[in-house]
Amino acid sequence: MEVIVCEDAIAVGAHAAAYAVRIAKDVGPEVVLGVATGSSPLSTFEHIAQAVARGDVDLRHARAFALDEYVGIPYDHPLSYHDTIRRTVTEPFKLDPANVHVPDGNAQDLRHAGELYEAMIHDAGGIDVQFLGVGGNGHIGFNEPTSSLASRTRVKTLTVQTRRDNARFFAEGEQVPKHCVTQGLGTILEARHIVLVASGSGKAHAIRQLVEGPVTAMCPGSVLQLHPDVRVIVDVEAASELQLRDYYTDVQANLPSWQQLPTH
Ligand code: GLP
Repeated sequence: MEVIVCEDAIAVGAHAAAYAVRIAKDVGPEVVLGVATGSSPLSTFEHIAQAVARGDVDLRHARAFALDEYVGIPYDHPLSYHDTIRRTVTEPFKLDPANVHVPDGNAQDLRHAGELYEAMIHDAGGIDVQFLGVGGNGHIGFNEPTSSLASRTRVKTLTVQTRRDNARFFAEGEQVPKHCVTQGLGTILEARHIVLVASGSGKAHAIRQLVEGPVTAMCPGSVLQLHPDVRVIVDVEAASELQLRDYYTDVQANLPSWQQLPTH
């Protein structure tokens, strides 16, 4: 796991985007992106959209798979992950909507929907680069604490804390869904490269547990310690509880040349 500490959330996004664009260029036009929702990856996605607009990278033939979706929320609801991914990824990256997939939280048979989603990722050749945020309780995707470390795409119940955290996005009187369909931890671990971004002191504890704690289902993100190619890119606040803080790459002080950010 490579931990990279940046000054602020914008620098986190710039750094993560530069890394992902480099992978996309290496892989070629049909790169398979694993995309995430939540506020954390937004800066990364904005920087990638700028790279697309500048012509630095062409994603018209790329494929994308989202991590998760609420159960029972209309596809066009602005807080559905279908609609969120359309606004934050599909349109700004200029992807072909036919190549962008989100788990189906309205399927009649949700178990079957999970199996189909796994098959689609497999048929696309697997995910080249997976973007992740992290929940305050250490969840990745919607894999809540006690999720099986080998889990596949399936229905999960959201914890009270996650529903409370996400309530801020919903209108007053609107209920945060109780269930979701999420890629499993085993699914996420099959991505070839993983880049997790976090910023703000609210994520400091989760980042500490995820990077330096034991591998445990109580902090689902800690399973990433088992993956050979993970970058955890955080701002100084999210890094503030790390015990080995001085040991990690500091973008200000000690950035290996291959990671240097474009100056524009
Ligand atoms: C949601 C998503 C996660 C995301 C998390 C953190 O629950 N399912 O993929 O990482 O929230 O969200 P935020 O980045 O807004 O803190």
